[in-house]
Amino acid sequence: MGSVIIGTGVALPSRVVTNDDLSAIMDTSDEWIRSRTGVQQRHIADPGVGASDLAAEAVAEALRNAEMAPQDVDVLITATMTPDQYAPGIAGMVQERSGLGHIAAFDLRQQCGGYLYGLDLADALLASGKARCVVVVGAEVHSGYMPYGASWEILRGERPGPVDPVDHAAATEARGWAVLFGDGAGAAVLTTEEDPGTGFIGSVLRTDGSHADLIEVLGVGFRHQPYVDTAQLEARAHWPSMNGMELFRQAVICMPAAVREVLAETDLTIDDVSLVIAHQANDRILDAVRKQLGIDAELIPSNIARYGNTTAATLPILLHEQQAAGRIRPGSLVCFTAFGAGAHWGASLYRVPGTR
Ligand code: UT7
Repeated sequence: MGSVIIGTGVALPSRVVTNDDLSAIMDTSDEWIRSRTGVQQRHIADPGVGASDLAAEAVAEALRNAEMAPQDVDVLITATMTPDQYAPGIAGMVQERSGLGHIAAFDLRQQCGGYLYGLDLADALLASGKARCVVVVGAEVHSGYMPYGASWEILRGERPGPVDPVDHAAATEARGWAVLFGDGAGAAVLTTEEDPGTGFIGSVLRTDGSHADLIEVLGVGFRHQPYVDTAQLEARAHWPSMNGMELFRQAVICMPAAVREVLAETDLTIDDVSLVIAHQANDRILDAVRKQLGIDAELIPSNIARYGNTTAATLPILLHEQQAAGRIRPGSLVCFTAFGAGAHWGASLYRVPGTR
């Protein structure tokens, strides 16, 4: 019996912030962002909209496309690094808002690796018979991290300017990571199919905690007593801190290694793969992964130009788009791969149901 994806959905806030918009509120440029990352714009949630709201919207679309009712779902897996509030996580909020029953619903915290872990867990639950229909959703509202202060009003078109110099300095201090991220959500509905050769046929998931400091948010945590105080906020411990260059290097080593490992485990080669759905952190990372795997550019699509890095949501948003473009063809082999904070990474192989 194989675990198969029967419907996908996405949610993207309607507001878009371009690189030029960011250049008006910090020292950056479209040229810098585009040439170093491939990002051209990102979708931005309004205040009051949380990851749970985007997740519920994506789940509703995925259920519609799967022609399943909320009552059919018996496990919900939510992946986010930007929950609506410190606790509880978003799983219960999404369960309730999506009209799901009183089912098992839980959060994963594997950041950019979250969706890959979620798919693998869904597959294990379906394969064991513990579940018959699982929804996996990745959702992020990164905007809350951005220290733009009153410049948000300029980004939202509520006033033309000028930018407060204090806000400008803070945004510029954060530019190394702030320009990379966007908001959004993506979901997939999984169930089982009798044909044993279809669905998820292999996976490797890896963790190396010694790389946790490559990208982390140190502040607001219970090693600190009290767990949040003004000293932490003044020290900007609630900002992500990132070693971009080393993160880049590890992503480029770990994703191709995981792809090769899962192919070897399943007695397949890269020539058998029709599509690589890879985490969208940087076009230059995708290019390096492509070169290492020796595949053509069209086999490893990118949508980072439109969305930036949406962390746990990049894989399902890209999957949804590739599905809509008719690129998830019956009988073909799709490879998922991701690398994220933790560090957590891996790869999985998905044989699309149906014959070629
Ligand atoms: O999934 C986890 C999410 N994060 C990642 O995957 C990040 C992976 N890493 C990367 O994508 C790249 O390392 C970055 C895009 C983050 C940075 O690219 P880079 O080529 O490694 O640049 P850099 O950090 O070495 O910075 C080069 C220069 C610096 O100036 P100086 O010191 O050379 O004068 C930075 O201050 O670029 C400056 N800089 C910027 N300039 C304009 C950094 N950010 C910006 C910016 N606009 N947004």
